[in-house]
Amino acid sequence: MTSGNILLPAGSIRRDRRLCQLISDLWVGIIFCVGPPSGVECTECSVCSTCSVCSVCSIYMALEKDFFRQVMGQFTTGVTVATTCDDGHAAGLTVSAFTSVSLDPPLVLICVDLRSNVLAHFRESGIFAVNILTNRQEALSRCFATMSEERYTHFCNADYHVAATGAPILDGVLAFVDARIIAEYPGGDHTIFLGQVEAMGTDGEVVFASEAGKRNSTLTAYLPKDSNELDLVEAKRSSMPLAYYRGQYRHLSKDYQRPSLAAYYDEDFE
Ligand SMILES: Cc1cc2nc3c(=O)[nH]c(=O)nc-3n(C[C@H](O)[C@H](O)[C@H](O)COP(=O)(O)O)c2cc1C
Repeated sequence: MTSGNILLPAGSIRRDRRLCQLISDLWVGIIFCVGPPSGVECTECSVCSTCSVCSVCSIYMALEKDFFRQVMGQFTTGVTVATTCDDGHAAGLTVSAFTSVSLDPPLVLICVDLRSNVLAHFRESGIFAVNILTNRQEALSRCFATMSEERYTHFCNADYHVAATGAPILDGVLAFVDARIIAEYPGGDHTIFLGQVEAMGTDGEVVFASEAGKRNSTLTAYLPKDSNELDLVEAKRSSMPLAYYRGQYRHLSKDYQRPSLAAYYDEDFE
């Protein structure tokens, strides 16, 4: 098998994935039974670069990975920074793999790369907050996606308060949920944290699941106490989410707006 075999048309990727699996299986058998090429040790077959057969397979896998990224990149997401506080140390990373899971009880999940330098902080603390960013917070998103001293040591110089769990709630976010981790599930090269919501907020309003959670909060200092109704309406209008599409940050147009539920869309009922 030579590298000439690698350049196959896109449509043949699936067929060759099976071939890779077959080669991989065979290779494992060969390693333990015969051990070719003689004298070459190949313990991690599927990613082995010392064996020509296996390296062909890993290149096929890389092709699939890029295409998977391309496919998933068509799905527009918001951008969040997931934060935690481990023994007094604030940590976070930019996350788009965030979704609500259940309404009753209120559950959310985030997916974190197993190689992330901040993963251990989430596991140790057992808490996380998801900060939904506005389109004015792109720099913050970039910082929390970078391996830098500024991020690891200075928390991207971000100002924050805490709600129920003690996980940082970044100032000026569009909305946040503050959760306690109730389960962790394997998810390939990521891990899935399932969190039960203990506090959440948006548009200057915060709701706590318990009185104890409310007592822990420093958010009340940050909420606009003396703001009048008009200020809140204006804040709502000017806050737009930061979006992510095809590997790039996007800002939404304010022009296009239409209710999503047919029941509220008068034209459908005329
Ligand atoms: C828009 C965007 C979305 C991202 N979403 C995720 C995500 O959902 N999960 C994840 O583990 N990393 C995600 N990342 C990558 C991390 O933010 C970060 O780059 C990576 O964790 C850096 O490694 P470290 O945590 O070891 O410093 C995303 C990055 C960007 C720019």
